[in-house]
Amino acid sequence: MPTDEHFLAHAIRLGARGLGRTAPNPSVGCVLVKDGAIIATGVTGDGGRPHAETVALNAAGNAARGAIAYVSLEPCAHHGKTPPCAEALIKAGVVHVVVAAIDPDPRVAGSGIAMLEAAGISVEQKHLPEAARLNRGFFKRVADGMPYVAMKIATSLDGMLGDHTGASKWITGEAARQHGHFLRSEVDAVLTGIGTVLADDPQLTVRPPLAPHPNLVRIVADRQLRLPLTSHLVKSANTHAVWAITTTQAVELNASHASDLREAGVKLLVLEEETLAPTTILTALGGEGITRVLLEAGAHLSTTFLAAHAVDRLYWYRAPILLGSGGKPAIQELATTLARATHAYPAARIPLGNDHCEIYEMNPCSQA
Ligand SMILES: NC(=O)c1ccc[n+]([C@@H]2O[C@H](COP(=O)([O-])OP(=O)(O)OC[C@H]3O[C@@H](n4cnc5c(N)ncnc54)[C@H](OP(=O)(O)O)[C@@H]3O)[C@@H](O)[C@H]2O)c1
Repeated sequence: MPTDEHFLAHAIRLGARGLGRTAPNPSVGCVLVKDGAIIATGVTGDGGRPHAETVALNAAGNAARGAIAYVSLEPCAHHGKTPPCAEALIKAGVVHVVVAAIDPDPRVAGSGIAMLEAAGISVEQKHLPEAARLNRGFFKRVADGMPYVAMKIATSLDGMLGDHTGASKWITGEAARQHGHFLRSEVDAVLTGIGTVLADDPQLTVRPPLAPHPNLVRIVADRQLRLPLTSHLVKSANTHAVWAITTTQAVELNASHASDLREAGVKLLVLEEETLAPTTILTALGGEGITRVLLEAGAHLSTTFLAAHAVDRLYWYRAPILLGSGGKPAIQELATTLARATHAYPAARIPLGNDHCEIYEMNPCSQA
């Protein structure tokens, strides 16, 4: 007989399917169970609506009466664009709700559970770390106003980002590149630096065999507003969102380029602060509703983020090659930027063809 843990794990797995597609809302999974069997499931829709509970209740119809609901996050209690999920569960005649994590959004924060209990529905709270991990981007934005940051970097064994020819684009093999695309598929936005755009002219999309990610926002940190109109990013800005983060001064100095970029479909996030420090960038992205970011940049921006302790999870791909003195070092750059020793907490090491991806938690507070 399946247990509560089994159904909650299923709800969490369902929630994971919506990652990168539901911002600024969390991605939630809901499983409705009757007589020990699943009668319906739901996942938060793209853009954050409909909520998972609504999807599952609609699928179950009258069969929801007398069911138990397993949810990866506390049902909402506030009237937003849709009525509260707690109210929908009450109306549908659900008799018991098992919640894997409390919603930290101050508009919910326990009031979804209170609403259910006031209607005579028993509620069990499990506080599962994997449920908090699922929505760590949403939780971080609620707590700090900034998105969760995963950073990926690919180097040779001796820590080089590429050789002297600048041929760093594909230092790792096909399996590692596909893994990188998978990481893109789970975030709301990819962030890179203008140095990478000028050197590699990347597309920063999710490519087959993975399903396309049309909501993925591609962002360039570009203090001087050098983003070329001829770049792949700008040329595709009308079909896949492109944002440039820049400064008031750069827009004043390059007014006509700024206007051309806007006309080409690029959204400019114009900030007062000229250094574009990581927390300034992340606060601006949080303000735009971004909850999960993948930083895919060269040594400059990557090490600035690491030095500012602005990275939550690090994916370090290593290719089995020594590039030696002709290489472009990531580590040396880091050594000059990082003021003090910083611990990384190993989480996993995945073989990818001839390469490896080492995964580290950088910010234990947000390990959840
Ligand atoms: N192996 C890998 O994983 C990997 C990944 C990506 C790129 N790369 C390689 O890296 C090379 C490019 O390196 P890069 O270091 O020039 O690229 P980058 O880190 O992507 O871009 C650096 C530029 O970003 C801008 N920037 C904006 N805000 C910043 C901030 N807060 N801190 C630092 N920089 C900021 C700066 O230009 P402004 O001052 O003009 O704004 C800076 O020169 C390319 O050869 C590329 O192939 C390798």
